[in-house]
Amino acid sequence: MLDIQTSLAQPHVTRRADYTPPDWQVPDIALNFDLDPAATRITATLHVQRSGVHDRPLRLDGAGQTLLSVSVDGTPVNDWVIEGGALILPLSGSAHVIETTVEIAPERNTQLMGLYASGGNLCTQCEAEGFRRITFFPDRPDVLSRYQVRMSADKQRYPVLLANGDPIASGDLDDGRHWAEWHDPFPKPCYLFALVAGDLAVNRGSFITMSGREVALGIWVRATDLERTHHALDALKTAMAWDERVYGREYDLDVFNIVAVDDFNFGAMENKGLNVFNSRYILADPDTATDYDYDAIAAVVAHEYFHNWSGNRVTCRDWFQLSLKEGFTVYRDQCFSADQGSAAVKRIEDVRGLRAAQFPEDAGPLAHPIRPDAYQEISNFYTATIYNKGAEIIRMLATILGATAFRTGTDLYFDRFDGTAATCEDFVASLEEASGTDLTQFRRWYGQAGTPRVTASLLHHEGSGRAELVLAQRTPPTPGQDSKTPVVLPLRVKLFGAQTAGTVAPEHVILLSDAEQRIVFEGVTERPILSINRGFSAPAIIETDRSAADLAFLGAHDDDPFARYEALQQLMLDTLVAAAGGNQADHAAVIAAVAGTIGDAKLDRAFAAEAVLLPSESFIGDQMAVVDPEAIFRVREALRRDIGRALTSEWCAAYDAAQAIGGYVYSPEAKGLRRMRAVALGYIAASGAADSGDLAFAQFEAADNMTDRLSALTTLVAGDAAQRTPALDIFYNRYSDNALVLDKWFSVQAMAPRDDTGDVVRELLRHQDFTLSNPNRARALIGAFGVNQRAFNVTDGSGYRFLADQLIALDTLNPQTAAKLIPPLGRWGRFDAARGALMRAELERIVKVPGLSKDMFEQASRSLE
Ligand code: PHE
Ligand code: ZN
Repeated sequence: MLDIQTSLAQPHVTRRADYTPPDWQVPDIALNFDLDPAATRITATLHVQRSGVHDRPLRLDGAGQTLLSVSVDGTPVNDWVIEGGALILPLSGSAHVIETTVEIAPERNTQLMGLYASGGNLCTQCEAEGFRRITFFPDRPDVLSRYQVRMSADKQRYPVLLANGDPIASGDLDDGRHWAEWHDPFPKPCYLFALVAGDLAVNRGSFITMSGREVALGIWVRATDLERTHHALDALKTAMAWDERVYGREYDLDVFNIVAVDDFNFGAMENKGLNVFNSRYILADPDTATDYDYDAIAAVVAHEYFHNWSGNRVTCRDWFQLSLKEGFTVYRDQCFSADQGSAAVKRIEDVRGLRAAQFPEDAGPLAHPIRPDAYQEISNFYTATIYNKGAEIIRMLATILGATAFRTGTDLYFDRFDGTAATCEDFVASLEEASGTDLTQFRRWYGQAGTPRVTASLLHHEGSGRAELVLAQRTPPTPGQDSKTPVVLPLRVKLFGAQTAGTVAPEHVILLSDAEQRIVFEGVTERPILSINRGFSAPAIIETDRSAADLAFLGAHDDDPFARYEALQQLMLDTLVAAAGGNQADHAAVIAAVAGTIGDAKLDRAFAAEAVLLPSESFIGDQMAVVDPEAIFRVREALRRDIGRALTSEWCAAYDAAQAIGGYVYSPEAKGLRRMRAVALGYIAASGAADSGDLAFAQFEAADNMTDRLSALTTLVAGDAAQRTPALDIFYNRYSDNALVLDKWFSVQAMAPRDDTGDVVRELLRHQDFTLSNPNRARALIGAFGVNQRAFNVTDGSGYRFLADQLIALDTLNPQTAAKLIPPLGRWGRFDAARGALMRAELERIVKVPGLSKDMFEQASRSLE
């Protein structure tokens, strides 16, 4: 008998080095969709052209469809074979017309890739390799085609029929069906194909481009959500104008549509002229969306719009180049958001996000360079490294080149590669050529994983007035990369005088490119204090020998807001890490710095609120040799309590001063006030003040917006006030018909810093509103629990078992979303041996599940290495 184990095929690995250009091009494709949720028929007509001189057959990727017929130049053929899902067809000439007819069942598609049903509508998701689930096609981004799409469907059920490009014609059929035809004149890879059929209402707008063309804008949602689309529509117009002003990029079609769907694996998708969004990044009104949601909506709307140039007009040669479009587009959306409000707070949020998601990835078993060398499943590489570290790499290029040369470089890039599938190298070479800057060494960032560690120490010789900055860099080994070479780090540096608080050396950019470098400053007559990596100019971990007093000085005086925030964070971190390591902790310096920050009336409230927040439990853990979640929680709570108690009157004053005047407004100032109220309320509760439950509940009941309501609920859920359960019930009942708000209700409980969180989460699994089949809901409970450092890491391993059980169940429905939630289990090397062994046991259990998806297999098996 055959041994199952040995008959298992090795997972297929795709390697960047193996890239070869396509054998066949498909300049034109016509698609005919006979739409039906149970059985959709698709006829595809491909005009194929042999590329170069070879005699290889045509290979069309496919997955899961039933093939009904194949014809070549109008004649049915049967000399084809199916190999690993792909259709292999021998062809004799250099150009042919291939027609295939297939059938698929959208309503049975739970993985949400290809054509699927969501909330009674039909929609598609094709990036990265979903188009092959719809029809047979060379599913790779370097095959660009002009698309002609015809759809027919039941008119009552699907009155709206949308696809990429421009609507051409439509009409009625008999049997209550109707049809529509759309053409997209811009050649595109199949991952940018989209169609939507549904019962949708539209919020229409219009935009006049820089050359005076009018673009018809539409945001399509279910009718009851129409009132919640205004913010997204405003953001879209603002983004269109911003891309014209900042990058000279004009929109190119006459129509731009966005559709919001409830079931979506990621945030949103940049399909040409027809973006499809997770509804959480479209729908907002003050009663249901927080300030954070409003900001995220504007950022994601802008991001997907910006892809029209960085991604669609210039696309990727292969999926190893993913950061070419994603890193650059994240950088573009970050700059856009910075321009809409407080740039300093935006930068703090971005760096916080990078440290929460990307630094741990770079330090763990799944570390990979922003341009990876190999993958089993490309969906697993839509990571914080590709997106957020990728954006930091582009930001460094902008810093090194300066704004003008950077823009000249991006102009050259867009111009030269318009209509093509490009590489990261094409981008760097364009910037290099346009600026005349040698970027040879800088390119190492594309191939080397891991977060560089920089040590900086400032020596001062009082007599000679000489100061010397000694810098050294080192990147720790990552899987598959044992030894690293020095990278180029642009470090914004400034020196302050300790006595006068004046400038001793003005800000300038030091390019650290050697393993070690010394920079000399002359004429330094007073003791200098180092402000380094201002604005977080390089994505590195900086270790300095600055004292608590110097950090407090910078926390009060630094004129770079990010550096000021960073100094306070470092002061807090040093205190917390020492305490978690069992050292006597003196809270006085942190308390004084916090008091100075909230008392500084010149500071923007949004900035002050961010700056007085303690580092997260997981970020504290990242600083320790062995993460001790209980100790971290204990010392952090103790510091929070002391800050709350020592500054009770300050917090109450800050809370009252941040009372909104008049009703709700969405503006940077009003957001800052709400943020300060939330932070002050948190510290008042942390102080243990007897009336904090009343205060939080009063805010919860009086709130005229979700930001205030949710911050009050979060505070109540964390504690044991009598109003805790009533508030949760009121919230649930009020929003039981709003899925996006219910997600918050699940998350706030899964993230709670409480002893019973594990039990609560297991209980919530059985709640009538919980389902694994909606990715937002699965992430709201299971994803949120996985990042609750203390609750997830309870010593009996029940948190690990819970996550593994849920991911195994989710994998049978939606492998992509399941695989994304693996990383908390991959942190086994960061914890004590007992926890580490329990985590590994769960990963091993996952790897052995029969029929496990390749998404999960890759993530779980790599996590064990
Ligand atoms: N390309 C999308 C974006 O970043 C993300 C995405 C990837 C969406 C894969 C769906 C599937 O804008
Ligand atoms: Zn993107």
